[in-house]
Amino acid sequence: MTDDVLVVHGGTPLHGEIRVRGAKNLVSKAMVAALLGESESRLYDVPRIRDVEVVRGLLELHGVRVSEGPDGELIFDPSNVEEANVDEINVHAGSSRIPILFCGPLLHRLGRAFIPNLGGCRIGDRPIDFHLNALREFGAVVDKTPEGLHIAAPRGLRGAKLTLPYPSVGATEQVLLTAVRAEGTTELRNAAVEPEIIDLICVLQKMGAIINVHTDRVLRIEGVPSLSGYRHRPLPDRLEAASWACAALATHGDVYVRGARQVDMSTFLNVFRTIGGAFEVDDSPEGGIRFWHPGGELRAVALETDVHPGLMTDWQQPLVVALTQARGLSIVHETVYEQRFGFTEALVKMGATIQLYRECLGSTPCRFGQRNFLHSAVISGPSKLHAADLEIPDLRGGFSHFIAALAAEGTSRVYGVSLINRGYEDFEAKLTALGAHIERP
Ligand code: EPU
Repeated sequence: MTDDVLVVHGGTPLHGEIRVRGAKNLVSKAMVAALLGESESRLYDVPRIRDVEVVRGLLELHGVRVSEGPDGELIFDPSNVEEANVDEINVHAGSSRIPILFCGPLLHRLGRAFIPNLGGCRIGDRPIDFHLNALREFGAVVDKTPEGLHIAAPRGLRGAKLTLPYPSVGATEQVLLTAVRAEGTTELRNAAVEPEIIDLICVLQKMGAIINVHTDRVLRIEGVPSLSGYRHRPLPDRLEAASWACAALATHGDVYVRGARQVDMSTFLNVFRTIGGAFEVDDSPEGGIRFWHPGGELRAVALETDVHPGLMTDWQQPLVVALTQARGLSIVHETVYEQRFGFTEALVKMGATIQLYRECLGSTPCRFGQRNFLHSAVISGPSKLHAADLEIPDLRGGFSHFIAALAAEGTSRVYGVSLINRGYEDFEAKLTALGAHIERP
């Protein structure tokens, strides 16, 4: 356990520059898409994070040859896709949720797929019912066993008319990755339209897919008999960029996030400005966004997370840390995941005043009201944060703990830091580059 601890000496503003690379939540899906191609694919600017390693390993287990080029380039050769050993898949998949997205591509390539029991961050129940229902509509047969899911498509996959009960990112990706090579037309209603989804559609279009994005969350996909490989530069990681922006704000710092792009972050930028943060967009080809605390007091706000174009749920946790420093009462209603405030317990231990509520404190329609989920938070600030021993609960909550430890007075010990490597490349090196005082015990 001791090699998984970082000691954080707080109280120093973060200053300097870091760079974000391709978005974790697109890169991993584009890697899966490479399985659908009959020729080589190249993905550029891929971050060195654990989620990428897991998907790479799963591709390799299925016969895809993966090699590396310069500057984070990954090259996929899918000419020998083969069935993988169930035990090996189970060991390799670890706690990732990406394996569920292998279903469509493997069914098209091999007629069968095995999906291990899924993990992922513990931020809610995280079921896969939408995925399995969609696969069944395409004609797949799902057999649930104690070791995982065996899925087969004995008569091939056919296009379907589908409506998601909620615009799930993963289920929309599932439908896209399955429909592009299914026979006939697929119509998906109530689809997610996050920028990472639109970028995945761009990847698939490069491969030869025909996908129309209509108004009101409707996607129409014309299946094609075969797809080729792609060359793609992913959209930048807007979730990581927002995390560093909040770290700059909460520590009274000034951080230039090279690679951050305004268009993917406009909802976040509005909130950042409303609470008193300053930013400047640099549109030059190698540009980014500078985020800083302009002095004076931060202001409290009422926020609700939502599917795109609403306020992204992964922006919520770092924003909450910044809001502990804002004057007045802030209200945050989380409508995407039912249990995404677990990380606030540690903030309270550090001196923040945060009260959680089961009620919907906001007007966005939400599935969690009256269901005993503590999914609204009231934050009263500003609070002087003090150091504490912290245990990383999940990826975004964990980063937020770091922000709090950096903003706090005194020395904190943060346990379980390897979880952060799932989604933040060179996390410790970036902190050091920004002048954070951190060390291994
Ligand atoms: N849901 C169901 N049934 C399903 C699928 C989803 O009820 O079959 C529910 C979930 O329980 C949740 C809601 O639908 O309440 C939204 O989940 P979604 O499927 O959109 O999430 P996801 O695809 O599992 C991705 C990101 C998350 C991000 C969400 C929301 C990846 C690998 N993960 O998850 O990112 O929060 O979309 O935008 O793309 C992260 O990066 O740390 C992270 C958690």
